[in-house]
Amino acid sequence: MSEEQEKPKRPQRIFSGVQPTANIHLGNYLGAIKRFVPLQYEMESIFCVVDMHAITVPQDPKKLVLQTREVAAAYLAAGIDPEKSIVFVQSNVSAHAELAWILNCVARMGWMERMTQFKDKAGENSERVSLGLFAYPALMAADILAYHATHVPVGEDQKQHLELARDVAAKFNNDFKAKGFFPLPEPLIGKEAARVMNLQDGSKKMSKSDPAELSRINLTDDADTISKKFKKARTDQFPMPETMDELKARPEVDNLVGIYAALAETTKEAVVAEFAGAGFGLFKPKLADLAVEKLAPVNAKMRDYMDNHDHIDKILREGAERANAIAAPILKKTKELVGFFS
Ligand code: AMP
Ligand code: TRP
Repeated sequence: MSEEQEKPKRPQRIFSGVQPTANIHLGNYLGAIKRFVPLQYEMESIFCVVDMHAITVPQDPKKLVLQTREVAAAYLAAGIDPEKSIVFVQSNVSAHAELAWILNCVARMGWMERMTQFKDKAGENSERVSLGLFAYPALMAADILAYHATHVPVGEDQKQHLELARDVAAKFNNDFKAKGFFPLPEPLIGKEAARVMNLQDGSKKMSKSDPAELSRINLTDDADTISKKFKKARTDQFPMPETMDELKARPEVDNLVGIYAALAETTKEAVVAEFAGAGFGLFKPKLADLAVEKLAPVNAKMRDYMDNHDHIDKILREGAERANAIAAPILKKTKELVGFFS
């Protein structure tokens, strides 16, 4: 399923989204949100709070509204400029749902069945999970393609969904004789912290849904909690590694070094060189201090935004109008290509 990426006659455009499920965490921040900030100065950027994705698993309606504002607050607190970028809520722009239906009819069952995130989330219980959870990657493709977005900054766990979005785009272009209509979106995955792991178990990714609070740093954690969680993070009894090969063999340590590198905006190589042979009694407090230094201002700004939600709501409403202005003509053209009566 390959179609050459068209040479861009259209503007290059960023799209990304975060689900308003509880416990937005350090993985979301380092793997995605923090990386959005410099990108907005390179390309036109659209950042979405994907509430339609969130309801693929049960959500408490009262909390969903608050969590939607919380993700918007995290975007703004991290440094996304709502004048420059578009910040909005997915369910406020109907093009997402409309295009998702069309793409549900383009995507193949076999492609969806291969999605590892669905398999992980459904587990043994695929009879009981929602149909929406299965169709989720087609909705994600619609999010991106509704804006003809060309670049999608995400954590590594979304790579397979991006490949599916490219396959869906190519199949649509091919089936409806519309060569180059949908661009094939490129994932932008960071070098460090693209997959932040669980602080208690280096074999699992840090996740919003883990019941163990010590497993993750929430963006709403205060300084003491952040310090405590890093100090309790699982490591081993050896000193800090001296080489990258040694680091790779120690997943929990690799994770902490990756977090340090991403927070300090350096590389894992540089962190290994700086701490080679040191004890965790030295490294962990340094990591905790660095995390507090970098996250405390984000945390404080998030609280300010949450306390003044009229401001957030205004940004989200204006964002939805601007998003709709881009998506509506693309959806109209898509419907024409499909042969819908208008
Ligand atoms: P989600 O919370 O699933 O909506 O994820 C929002 C963004 O955060 C996506 O770009 C994910 O790839 C990214 N992300 C989620 N968990 C992690 C993690 N543990 N490490 C790095 N990035 C992550
Ligand atoms: N599925 C993504 C996640 O869970 C969130 C998402 C939805 C997204 N739509 C998107 C990310 C479009 C990038 C582009 O992390």
